[in-house]
Amino acid sequence: MPEVANVMDRLVSLAKRRGFVFQSSEIYGGLGSVWDYGPLGVELKKNIKERWWRSMVHERDDIEGLDAAILMHPKVWEASGHLAGFTDPLVDCRQCKNRFRSDDPRIKGSPGQPDAQCPVCGSKGTLTAPRMFNLMFKTFMGPVEDAAAVVYLRPETAQGIYVNYVNVLQSSRQKIPFGIAQVGKAFRNEITPGNFTFRTREFEQMEMQFFVKPGTDQEWFEFWREERMKWLLGLGIRSERLRFHRHTPEELAHYAKDAYDIQYEFPFGWQEFEGIHNRTNFDLSRHQEASGKKLEYLDPATTERFIPYVVETSAGADRTALVVMVDAYHEEEVGGEKRVVLRFHPAIAPLKAAVFPLVNKDGMPELSRRIFDDLRKRHNVFYDDGGSIGRRYRRQDEAGTPFGITIDGQSTQDGTVTVRERDTLRQVRVAADGLAGYLAERLRG
Ligand code: GAP
Repeated sequence: MPEVANVMDRLVSLAKRRGFVFQSSEIYGGLGSVWDYGPLGVELKKNIKERWWRSMVHERDDIEGLDAAILMHPKVWEASGHLAGFTDPLVDCRQCKNRFRSDDPRIKGSPGQPDAQCPVCGSKGTLTAPRMFNLMFKTFMGPVEDAAAVVYLRPETAQGIYVNYVNVLQSSRQKIPFGIAQVGKAFRNEITPGNFTFRTREFEQMEMQFFVKPGTDQEWFEFWREERMKWLLGLGIRSERLRFHRHTPEELAHYAKDAYDIQYEFPFGWQEFEGIHNRTNFDLSRHQEASGKKLEYLDPATTERFIPYVVETSAGADRTALVVMVDAYHEEEVGGEKRVVLRFHPAIAPLKAAVFPLVNKDGMPELSRRIFDDLRKRHNVFYDDGGSIGRRYRRQDEAGTPFGITIDGQSTQDGTVTVRERDTLRQVRVAADGLAGYLAERLRG
């Protein structure tokens, strides 16, 4: 599928060229499936995380925020089942020493059998039988590197929420149903990472655990499924490229009773980037049992005691950013010339506007600078006085900047400027004094 490869290749190349995403430690040859966000990428991801936080925490009365540490007591992972169950089946090629997931679609035949063929070196019969491989990264706490000092880098942020559930409940005076939201790093030693930032070994999650009375879980599960889809549509992602996928019994995680993925149609196929899970009381029960601490809820209305059920919404910030970039990426022809444009929703665009003096004389730079200094107090804006105006527009199209503000000869006479809209290419004259209001109105939502 050369066309598929090309679209992703061109996006990856744009991402590097324009400062969205760089390979980690690139000058040393790169580190496998670890990525860094450049000046534009960090703004895009931050805007997505902030928008998520606003809708989950600030705009709701029934969700509280949390920022738990990455390192947790190792017993957390024993109780949560990750130590025993967070595994992938792994096979090695004895010939070329590469490692694969046993269900890697590139493998021909059954690993461990003489007919199985290594997808890298092509040798037959050199793939080992599958063995289970735990995806958690291990490290040591303190100066002694022995078994007693082992700690793990969290593979999901959710557990930090469960172990703090009572702390948050008591300190916030919430009542069930209520939720706890968290954004933070997670780590997985993925065997077959790839597709740019889609599957990486270090990534950020935006997770929310909603604690409900058993018996009401199905209703909340449906509620959150719809809410999350609405939120994604509100980011401007094309609806025809979004769909739900309900997990089959074989796909369900060890903690889940029911689960839906939200999938996006990437150039490499439909893939999950967010999940809504009914985790029942699995995690809280396991932590109650393992810690010996009561994690029951006393319903003040009925004096009933129960361990709450949990409906989880779990999104990857990096994967959502990738969805946003892929969805925004357009190549088109304008006036006989090719233009590459990232049509980000203005609210999450890294730069909101760029300010251009048409030429660097006749009072235009001074006025442009004044306008720029005023706008930068409110928005992330960019000043560009280099090259032809056409080239400057193109650069901002590639950065996904929704508005271009040009200060020309007329501006110095009558105080109006030209605003060019990235998507429609429409140009309107606006009073420089009214620019802040003009932008604020269009950046909202
Ligand atoms: N707490 C539940 C949980 O972690 P998950 O389906 O394993 O569920 C949730 O992960 C989300 O985290 C995924 O939909 C994806 O967006 C993101 N994610 C998981 N593994 C990832 C990886 N290796 N690289 C990038 N994002 C990942």
